[in-house]
Amino acid sequence: MTRAIRVRAFAKINLSLQVLGARSDGYHELRTTFQSLALHDTLTCRARPGPFQIVCDEEACPSGESNLVWRAAERLWASAGRRGLPRDVAVRINKRIPIAAGLGGGSSDAAAAIRALAALWRVELSTARARKTAAALGADVPFFLDGGTALGVGRGDVLRRLADAPPAWVTLVVPAFGVSTPDAYRWFDADANEVSEAANDLEAPVAAHHPEIAHLVAALRREGASQAAMSGSGSAVFGLFTRRAAAAAAARAVSARGRRVIVTRTLDRAGYARLGRARRVR
Ligand code: C5P
Repeated sequence: MTRAIRVRAFAKINLSLQVLGARSDGYHELRTTFQSLALHDTLTCRARPGPFQIVCDEEACPSGESNLVWRAAERLWASAGRRGLPRDVAVRINKRIPIAAGLGGGSSDAAAAIRALAALWRVELSTARARKTAAALGADVPFFLDGGTALGVGRGDVLRRLADAPPAWVTLVVPAFGVSTPDAYRWFDADANEVSEAANDLEAPVAAHHPEIAHLVAALRREGASQAAMSGSGSAVFGLFTRRAAAAAAARAVSARGRRVIVTRTLDRAGYARLGRARRVR
């Protein structure tokens, strides 16, 4: 009998992101509000003999050790008490979350892999252990264990649950370029004296290198978004709308060749727990 586990990995936006200062460990001290979105990748972990393998339907998605799913597998394998490298499982990633966009796709895939591989290998992970494993993979990864609306401090990995934000339709605009997270923080450090009105402190320094970001934020506001900002370290920009039709109209207004425009919804914590659960498939 082949055994397989399927799990959804949801995207996030940052409703706000304050950079409080540089830390001695190369990271920055943050205060950010994370919000889960219904937009998701799907991971299928299938038991089969042979070396560990990642297959992704998106060319730009790494299939080797630089994929956080690989590192999640190594840690889970050790937690399962196995020696050597993980094996006998293939992970297929259906990628729908744009890459290098500030939407947390890679981090969410890693957290989803923790859930799925724990189920496949029957590892009982305590909440504390899951958190520790997640935080070792990346600053954003712990958020994706619970999702919903949460405050992140420290590197963004010290979390406090917040009351669910009011449900909203979300228009995501992803420019043709991506932004690397270390670059965004470097640009922030280089003009740390600039004052900005943006909800996201990384927005102005990233927009200084990529003016399209500021144009898109302005365009979403003109379309009636109750809030518009860059997500995380970019390049994606989001607008929040009460009505689906308004989100769809904004999507049409900003669509252009080379851009990806996606209309999705916010996802609350209960929805995240229900829809993000690891499920057995044939
Ligand atoms: O933890 P993660 O690998 O996602 O972080 C990628 C990079 O982003 C870090 O190496 C660092 O340069 C930057 N970063 C930061 N402060 C944070 C989160 C990320 O400077 N709180």
